[in-house]
Amino acid sequence: MSNPASPPAVGVLDAGPALTFPPDFLWGAATAAYQIEGAATEGGRAPSIWDIFSHTEGRTVAGHTGDVACDHYHRMPDDVRLMADLGLRSYRFSVSWPRVQPGGTGGVNQEGMDFYRRLIDELLGHGIEPWLTLYHWDLPQPLEDAGGWPARDTAARFAEYSHLVAEALGDRVKYFTTLNEPWCSAFLGYGSGVHAPGRRDGADAVRAGHHLMLGHGLAVQAVRAARPEAQLGITVNLYPVTPASGSAADADAARRIDALANRFFLDPVLRGAYPADLVADLRQVTDMGHVRDGDLATISTPLDMVGVNYYSRHVVAAPVEGAEPEPYWRAPSCWPGSEDVRFVTRGVPVTDMDWEIDAPGLVETLERVHREYTDLPLYVTENGSAFVDELVDGRVDDPDRLAYFAAHLRAAHAAIEAGVPLKGYFAWSLLDNFEWAWGYTKRFGMVYVDYDSQARIAKSSARWYADVIRRNGLPAQ
Ligand code: FCB
Repeated sequence: MSNPASPPAVGVLDAGPALTFPPDFLWGAATAAYQIEGAATEGGRAPSIWDIFSHTEGRTVAGHTGDVACDHYHRMPDDVRLMADLGLRSYRFSVSWPRVQPGGTGGVNQEGMDFYRRLIDELLGHGIEPWLTLYHWDLPQPLEDAGGWPARDTAARFAEYSHLVAEALGDRVKYFTTLNEPWCSAFLGYGSGVHAPGRRDGADAVRAGHHLMLGHGLAVQAVRAARPEAQLGITVNLYPVTPASGSAADADAARRIDALANRFFLDPVLRGAYPADLVADLRQVTDMGHVRDGDLATISTPLDMVGVNYYSRHVVAAPVEGAEPEPYWRAPSCWPGSEDVRFVTRGVPVTDMDWEIDAPGLVETLERVHREYTDLPLYVTENGSAFVDELVDGRVDDPDRLAYFAAHLRAAHAAIEAGVPLKGYFAWSLLDNFEWAWGYTKRFGMVYVDYDSQARIAKSSARWYADVIRRNGLPAQ
């Protein structure tokens, strides 16, 4: 098992004046069902799009699947003990839709729901606030067979499922996130196809994005009807988008990508309208005929908070003839109508995902949401980094991950100082896990998972984070 009680990484927290966080700051860590649970065919669970996708040849690195993952389904009480050892105040997890409502319609699979009830009871028993995400990408496969997120009916199905979850679990859960990162569901799932269900059609991706947001709005209403006291929000993955140069053409490239990456979701959810420039950019892809009267009012149903996932920045430049294709989420096909915009690398340090490390971008992002969109409480619902870890003599020292967390926590503190109502921070991730198309090849955990033995070993970043929580702060340098 873990050794979180051992001393923090030497000297890390000993120097410099402290940056102290507000007294009620919610310190947590996050995971997602398909990435950690395993037990894919147990307890009445049926396949989601990620089961089918990961079992399809060539979709994930080395054919990895979430069949076993971290075996959290069977090890849940130990994992909660581990969280308690680290001093987490909150744990953000997701409910697997195909575990609790296997076909995506109809009644509850009680055995599946009971798993989450036990998880919540364990958390509360250890004084850890449960934070429940309703959708972290695992759409029941029958709903995909019926059209998936590009089909309008999926939004209604999501609201119905959300209501079931709120009825069953909402007596003990205060915080609910509807969707995790709808950009990824829409544009990686239906645009570039690097995520499940692996479809590649720009218009479908845009339709999916709309129906995800419609599902979000309907789910907010459904959860509120069942649990008026719940704190409800959405989690969006935001990127500052910076032009590579001062040229007007690069500025326009940045405007386009900002529209697709950020404003596509922020504007409908928080302002009740699609940005006019986005609609114009998308004209060659879709006439937006899928947007019906009243949709935007539903989508902008008032929230209690907004979750921001932050990992990196996009730096972009205007198109040039014959440019090299970009990797992964930079693939042209996940930017419908703006496929020819170039994503530029600046040569700054990157993580094992090749994502540039840019802590000031977190301050920028949080300040922007607060300044341009909302006074609501904000939470960093994910932030973290993959690095190659080595298990040596039963220990994992991960100075790069630790430095990433430290830099971003300093940025979070700076945002608070600047007046952003940031109320909490969730490290991604508690455990190494199934990193989607990358399978088990990318480690984001603060806790190392030995996938052969399923042993959990707290990395030095976890021990450091435990100390940050205990002190409610960290040194300025
Ligand atoms: C986010 C996802 C999360 C994890 C991290 C690295 O996009 O929400 O599940 O994959 O990235």
